[in-house]
Amino acid sequence: MLSFNEILQKIEQEIAQLQFTYPPKSLYEPIEYILSLGGKRIRPALVLMACNLYKEEVDAAIKPALGLEVFHNFTLLHDDLMDEADKRRNKPTVHKVWNANTAILSGDAMLIAAYQLIEETAPESLKEILHLFTATALEICGGQQYDMEFESRTDVSEAEYIEMIRLKTAVLLACALKMGAIVGNAPKEDAEALYQFGIHIGLAFQLQDDLLDVYGDTATFGKNIGGDILCNKKTFLLINALRLVSEQQRAILNDWIHKKEFDPAEKIAAVTAIYNQLHLKELSEEKIHTYYISAMEYLNSLQVAPEKLTILKEVSARLMNRQS
Ligand code: IPE
Ligand code: IPE
Ligand code: MG
Ligand code: MG
Ligand code: MG
Repeated sequence: MLSFNEILQKIEQEIAQLQFTYPPKSLYEPIEYILSLGGKRIRPALVLMACNLYKEEVDAAIKPALGLEVFHNFTLLHDDLMDEADKRRNKPTVHKVWNANTAILSGDAMLIAAYQLIEETAPESLKEILHLFTATALEICGGQQYDMEFESRTDVSEAEYIEMIRLKTAVLLACALKMGAIVGNAPKEDAEALYQFGIHIGLAFQLQDDLLDVYGDTATFGKNIGGDILCNKKTFLLINALRLVSEQQRAILNDWIHKKEFDPAEKIAAVTAIYNQLHLKELSEEKIHTYYISAMEYLNSLQVAPEKLTILKEVSARLMNRQS
């Protein structure tokens, strides 16, 4: 079995070897830029780790794994444009270095390049892999649309929020794990349990991302802190703030939500102060822990020797405490 570091090394080597067909330089340079900035590479790693539970040799899973990483980076180009985010992986975002049109079209090209990579999956699993990928990609668009629409609503329920993050984030982690299971020829029940493990780890992952957006450190998180507060994103924190505030706090919170002109730092500080007063960081951490526990139950239900699960367990635990 491969160690997590060996898996990451393999992925980095393969990403470095990806070739984009120039010209035009202006279309492909932003793609190489975003892919060279690193990131955790968690999705391709999940593909290879899941496959490795069932097969010693994971090379057959590399193309779909790379396809998912290219796809993920495509979503980031469009997401940063939609969220008006200036910084990612500690570097200016593509629409800042170039412009909005470049982020759109280079992003589109990445989506197509992702299909090209996935297309190279071995014929015996190709149909199932493609079907899963296409369904997942559409779900993610749905999740992003909800995310954007929720910005202008103040009555978003926690259940709506969970469904939104299931779609925009969790299904891709789940898809990665199931793809690995399919290429590894896992029993059907295991492929499904790995998918569910991915959904629950993915929900915890996005809750953690929302928490880091407020309480993280810019240098390690690589993104500007407070971006979600500035856009009125309906995160777990804001939804619960709106539910739990006193009348006096509600007036302050609503005022900031509806203000059109403001000093960004002041808004971030004011909203964070309300989150602190309501102990929402702790509430969020409890929720993360609940999803983590469910995720572990799915993992423990797999028909593989328990010692094989160590790497996935370690990676999951690290993701729950991540700072980047
Ligand atoms: C960012 O994903 C988008 C979310 C789903 C929160 P990651 O946190 O996996 O970003 P990278 O790839 O490691 O930079
Ligand atoms: C990420 O949501 C979802 C997708 C990219 C599909 P966020 O908007 O929270 O991701 P970050 O924080 O910008 O990475
Ligand atoms: Mg964003
Ligand atoms: Mg977003
Ligand atoms: Mg975020």
